[in-house]
Amino acid sequence: MFARRIPTPCFVLLCAALLLPGTGAGCTADTEPGALEAGSVTTERLRHAGGEPESWLAHGGTHAEDRFSRLEQIDRESVHRLGLAWSHDFNLRGGVEATPLMAGDVLYVSGPWSTVEALDARSGTPLWRYDPEVPRLRGLYACCDVVNRGVALHEDRVFVGTLDGRLVALDAATGTPVWEVVTTENDMPYTITGAPRVVEGLIIIGNGGAEYPVRGYVSAYASGTGALVWRTYTVPGNPADGFESEALERAAESWSGEWWLHGGGGTAWDAMAYDPELDLLYIGTGNGSPWSREVRSPGGGDNLYLSSILALRPSDGSLVWHYQTTPGDNWDFTATQPMILADLEIDGRLRKTIMQAPKNGFFYVLDRETGDFISGENYVRVNWADGIDPVTARPREQPIASYHPGPSGDLTPWFFGGHNWQSMSFNPETGLAYFPVHEGGVIYSGAEGPTLFEGIFSVGTGAAFTMVPMGFLLAWDPVAQQEAWRIPLANWWNGGTLSTAGGIVFQGGGDGRFAGYDAESGEVLWEFSSGLGIIAAPISYELDGVQYVTVAAGWGGVGGRTNAPSGEAEAYEQRGRLMTFALDRDTPRPPLFPRSALPDLGALRLDDLGLADDAAALGEGEKLYALNCIICHGQAGSSMGTMPNLQRMAPGTHRIFGDIVHGGRLEVMGMPGFAERLSEEEVALIHGYLVSRIRMAVGEP
Ligand code: HEC
Repeated sequence: MFARRIPTPCFVLLCAALLLPGTGAGCTADTEPGALEAGSVTTERLRHAGGEPESWLAHGGTHAEDRFSRLEQIDRESVHRLGLAWSHDFNLRGGVEATPLMAGDVLYVSGPWSTVEALDARSGTPLWRYDPEVPRLRGLYACCDVVNRGVALHEDRVFVGTLDGRLVALDAATGTPVWEVVTTENDMPYTITGAPRVVEGLIIIGNGGAEYPVRGYVSAYASGTGALVWRTYTVPGNPADGFESEALERAAESWSGEWWLHGGGGTAWDAMAYDPELDLLYIGTGNGSPWSREVRSPGGGDNLYLSSILALRPSDGSLVWHYQTTPGDNWDFTATQPMILADLEIDGRLRKTIMQAPKNGFFYVLDRETGDFISGENYVRVNWADGIDPVTARPREQPIASYHPGPSGDLTPWFFGGHNWQSMSFNPETGLAYFPVHEGGVIYSGAEGPTLFEGIFSVGTGAAFTMVPMGFLLAWDPVAQQEAWRIPLANWWNGGTLSTAGGIVFQGGGDGRFAGYDAESGEVLWEFSSGLGIIAAPISYELDGVQYVTVAAGWGGVGGRTNAPSGEAEAYEQRGRLMTFALDRDTPRPPLFPRSALPDLGALRLDDLGLADDAAALGEGEKLYALNCIICHGQAGSSMGTMPNLQRMAPGTHRIFGDIVHGGRLEVMGMPGFAERLSEEEVALIHGYLVSRIRMAVGEP
């Protein structure tokens, strides 16, 4: 159906390498770094990626997304010899959530603002860098940081989705754009942060934005040309416009009111998986827009296909089955968390399963052929529902979970979920799934309806946190549906996992530690303190007989904007850094920058700066700050993530504040110029508000 390239000699050699383990370097070792052979990451190779553990060709390692490396040079005995081989700094501020890919001998990784870098996988030497030059004001639509979770490889191209809604195909050898399409309706507050997936010659890409009024969908583009092949919406639009499919017509029966005015949500912003034998593409869908279902769909209903796993036919995007994890989502309980395909023996029968630990706190095992519910148990404390009814396969929602009119009871999980987007891995040898979880509590308040602001959260509820959140690394047995072990972590916000045939689970944490745990027991076998909070997932690959483990640090994402990293990392400015480890290497950790302290404002008076300090001006400044700055710089400027802490600006920065904020002096570094949105007087009001908050923080009148 789609044109396939004729296999190049390189491809033939790699096929041979699959049959003869140990000869895998034959084709690629002779290739110059950066000169990835045309056509080398073929559809066929992607199908069999699990048989080629020396590479990391797809986001989740394979189409099954199990993030299990079959390499075993680094094992329980040798892991203590692991050390830093090389590192590379991202030169833009923002969290790093990307899983790198490795093909040939080149690593491809995306950084903040959808930038892409190619590096020599042995040495970390930069080969090329691509910057899509996303307009910085677009960052106002990014609920959860200007992150990107990774690129895709197909044939001789690298694919990236950009924060401003483009899908770009790059030449893998040079980083030069080959084609580019706009995948979102550009006047709508969509963003792309998820990694594209490659399925049978199609590039599949979703989008995010359900904290703003948008309608979710996923699109498929022909890899060669960028032509749109299909687009599948995840929630129905206005019935008066007609439905795009029968599936959406059926879905519309589960909605009421004028939901389309609020977008509806259901964005497919991260998880996907593919089963080539069943020819099914699995998509996880997100929360309702707005969160409050009483606002979104006042007459009730399940609101299909929010918070669901959808199985689509990849040739045309038609819906084959769906399973909704959170009917009538009211709490931002997305089902966009990673999905893993595995064949598990359950009650004496080998079942083709799909598993997911979505935000709502239950671990699901479904039949991936039919969508039938097999089992589901809570993997963290859950009180919004008291279990999943095995007959109806629906959660038994509890009265304390509703909040219109408000407030709800003290609910757990909170809206960051029991588990967020952080990658899960599955080790077929231990039979365990590994993922970071968190426990937090929240009270939702539905006293007011939503006001739909442009470019900021409009979720239709207030929310207050009720407990000090805690984070753990969890090992879960999906057959027994019970915990095997859990390790408490310093921060609640942590990295995704990689599991290996060497019996190790690798994971980085919010305290900057990158650790190797015994996959059976959870015992810490090795650790490295990077000083930089880690939220992304590691990968492993092999070159010249050496096994490498790579992970990106880069504190940020939704949980890293105002929440400071812990431990050693708290002392340092948080910049992104890619780190690669191998046995018997001990490259020193490159220097880190201590966080600046609160400034001495002795000489800095509001009136010196010509700033008003009457209550009305400060109130107005606070309001403008909340609408334009809080999303990146946190409460009162106090961000402890990768964005600068505005309470700790150097005195000199105060003097050029207007130049930065209105004039756009730091645009290249990711700080938007606000001339389009704010007058110079309004910028001065924000400045006055910030200075007053700094004075409060340092205890000066
Ligand atoms: C999309 C994210 C984003 C938004 C929104 C944003 N900023 Fe920034 N801001 C940044 C980044 C990134 C930097 C760091 C640039 C650099 O590395 O030099 C920055 C830097 C700054 C600095 C310089 C700080 C220093 O110590 O050097 C000031 C001042 C500032 N921002 C003020 C504001 C104000 C005021 C607003 C709202 C009107 C705002 N920012 C909105 C991302 C943002």
